[in-house]
Amino acid sequence: MSFDLDKLAAELQKKVWSQFSDVVIDHANNPRNIGSIEEADGYASVTGLCGDTIQIWLKVKDGIISQITFWTDGCGTTIAAGSMVTELARGKALPEALQITPRDVLDALGGLPEESVHCAFLAANTLHEAIKDYQKSQAGHFNGGQQAEPGAGGK
Ligand code: FES
Repeated sequence: MSFDLDKLAAELQKKVWSQFSDVVIDHANNPRNIGSIEEADGYASVTGLCGDTIQIWLKVKDGIISQITFWTDGCGTTIAAGSMVTELARGKALPEALQITPRDVLDALGGLPEESVHCAFLAANTLHEAIKDYQKSQAGHFNGGQQAEPGAGGK
């Protein structure tokens, strides 16, 4: 009996990808906004429970996310989620970008299989942390350039 390993691999790959929307496949294969930004205004690196990390860099101009990039060591779904969250956030005002939810990422991707839903959470969380990093740096500016001590302000 002959056994065509290449054919089997191709069929398996087809079966795996058949669970994903065309949008997910497109963003996984051609991620948008990949890379880092030198002298970014905001940055975050968040590692999910699965062990994958997404990093996000952003530049802010007049309260708008003018530039945003990401990097991940995760799988194709994580790449697609990182790519999509940067597309959703680019050009948005900060309060609007802070309202981007994992559900928004999932909807924009056309959904994800149950076991990959957490990738959208990781992408949205990382975006929020990068925005908060920027906001913290701004709070430092208003404080005479000094970062407030943790716990300062009576909290
Ligand atoms: S598999 Fe871990 S974030 Fe996607």
